[in-house]
Amino acid sequence: MSIHPLKIGNIEVSVPVIQGGMGVGISLGSLAGAVAKEGGIGVISAAQIGFREPDFDTNTKEANLRAIKKEYEKARAMAPEGIIGFNLMVAMRHYEAYVSAAIDAGADIIISGAGLPMDLPKIAGGSDVKLAPIVSTEKSARVILKYWGKKYRRMPDLLVIEGPKAGGHLGFTKEQLAEYGSEGTYEQEVGKILKAVRQYEEQFVCRIPTALGGGIENRSQAARAFSLGVDAIQVATRFVTTEECDADIRYKEAYLHADEADIAIVKSPVGMPGRAIMNPFMKKVMAGEQIPHSPCHRCLHQCDPAEIPYCITDALIHAAKGETDEALLFCGAYAYKAERLETVKEVIDSLIGERV
Ligand SMILES: Cc1cc2nc3c(=O)[nH]c(=O)nc-3n(C[C@H](O)[C@H](O)[C@H](O)COP(=O)(O)O)c2cc1C
Repeated sequence: MSIHPLKIGNIEVSVPVIQGGMGVGISLGSLAGAVAKEGGIGVISAAQIGFREPDFDTNTKEANLRAIKKEYEKARAMAPEGIIGFNLMVAMRHYEAYVSAAIDAGADIIISGAGLPMDLPKIAGGSDVKLAPIVSTEKSARVILKYWGKKYRRMPDLLVIEGPKAGGHLGFTKEQLAEYGSEGTYEQEVGKILKAVRQYEEQFVCRIPTALGGGIENRSQAARAFSLGVDAIQVATRFVTTEECDADIRYKEAYLHADEADIAIVKSPVGMPGRAIMNPFMKKVMAGEQIPHSPCHRCLHQCDPAEIPYCITDALIHAAKGETDEALLFCGAYAYKAERLETVKEVIDSLIGERV
């Protein structure tokens, strides 16, 4: 496999590996800084990023805005010359304010999914931050390319394609997950997405680099992804079991101890399917138990606290803090393969080979 730097406009990323954003509190400044230092793109998740701030419960938005700056500065101190971005979920309330805070902090790139970031160019305004929507299907790719083209006369600086083996919330219906479950089926969809990208590149006389993520956990899978014609890979699950990952050690151990049969598709209160490790918490949820929650932080647009079986913020904060029996343990399809804690450098080397 021959590896080329990833070019995103005037930015050159020497190692074409993007560390996928992981909320809540899994990819913060430490992990993102370590990946950026190794030459990849380190991505901080802004999802409820202020959960450790003392006023998080009473002043959630301000706590998050403050933490965006702090985590960015931490990553930047580790990788003064590296490429550091933020993952921002469209479904988050105050999305616009968080995007602006990430840009003000100094982010090189905003990667945005969990909904289509239709008006991200407007929010980013005249800033030269790079903008990267996440799509999962040809349909969603065409919707965003058409809309940005028509309304903003611009194309994404990078398009991230996230497949069905990814962790966290998945951009597929349960039926689509079943359809793409068999080997190779999703690759056809990737081909269609890349065809759409090539059409828009021609129309807008520009280059739109692409990244593919979801279940890339070794070198041959990385090589396979590049052979489909993408410019970079986005990897998340492999980085959870690193020394530098911001999660509590008990969260990392949950990955190390998981078997294949422990990994399941679960329904999140957001209404989207997600992938997680089965644990006492998820068994209760599956059995129809209503999990009491803390006062609402008003984090998501489409969440009615009176209707949900559990609060996703509570469950993900439990995860980040290592309270694993009470937590939603998001993970990718191959999380069970992790056998030991590694360094970020070891993970990157195992994916694309050692660099000189
Ligand atoms: C623990 C965990 C949390 C995640 N959280 C987010 C998130 O907050 N926002 C998002 O867009 N993607 C999220 N993802 C998806 C990743 O960014 C990434 O694209 C995907 O997991 C790549 O597949 P892989 O984990 O198999 O490498 C999460 C993934 C994991 C494993």
